[in-house]
Amino acid sequence: PGRVTVRDIAAAKAHGEKWPMLTTYDALTAGIFDEAGIPVLLVGDSAGNVVFGYDTTIPVTIDDLIPLTAAVVRGTKRAMVVADLPFGSYQVSPVEALHAAIRFMKEAGAHAVKLEGGLRVAHQVEELAAAGIPVMGHLGLTPQSVHAFGGFRVQGRGEAGDRLLHDAKALEAAGAFSVVLEGIPASLAGKITESLRIPTIGIGAGADCDAQVLVWQDMAGLSPRSPKFVKRYAEVANVLRDAANEFAAEVAAGTFPSEEYSYR
Ligand code: KIV
Ligand code: NA
Repeated sequence: PGRVTVRDIAAAKAHGEKWPMLTTYDALTAGIFDEAGIPVLLVGDSAGNVVFGYDTTIPVTIDDLIPLTAAVVRGTKRAMVVADLPFGSYQVSPVEALHAAIRFMKEAGAHAVKLEGGLRVAHQVEELAAAGIPVMGHLGLTPQSVHAFGGFRVQGRGEAGDRLLHDAKALEAAGAFSVVLEGIPASLAGKITESLRIPTIGIGAGADCDAQVLVWQDMAGLSPRSPKFVKRYAEVANVLRDAANEFAAEVAAGTFPSEEYSYR
């Protein structure tokens, strides 16, 4: 079988099947998630935080994300690989958005792209869709707008919820094939999910979305801390720390490498 396609994603909503998405930034991790059957992998600009060590996603560039995206594509056989368009690569105009998306498709082999915003990027989404590029939208607590929000805070409470629903419909009308809902009340996410034909992918948006996404380092417990909406399915940081400590101790003691790990 080939890769997961936008048709499979549409069919899942039609059949009421929920599905998982994970972020990924390298070939080995991507291969593990691909074997686990995760159908969609996102090369998120969250790489700014978890790979590059920035406090926000704002400094991330196309040139930062292209090699990571290419690695994830090379490391997988079945997953659809979605690349985030970083801050500054699509806001200026639909044509700039198209140039950015084309780079991800041609240089990295991405199968789709994601951008943040609703009505304000509807023309960008139309331009990409018209060029045959599947577009994932992203609404709510969109991290590229952290300074406008005055911090990482839940969005869409009260009247702002109506605007978000309107934004979601604008993305669907513009041709987006799915939309991430981040950091919004569960009831609003449920309402948006019901109102759209395209699937919603929640993160900190409750159980009623069509799909769920987490940053893998949060999901697997590699991140030192993770927000309330993250379930840590493992504590990989502890596993790695123990391994590093044991390696260091054995080198200091001269017990590694033993004969078993040496050539004769
Ligand atoms: O960059 C990212 O990881 C994301 C997901 C959290 C949706 O945009
Ligand atoms: Na992102």
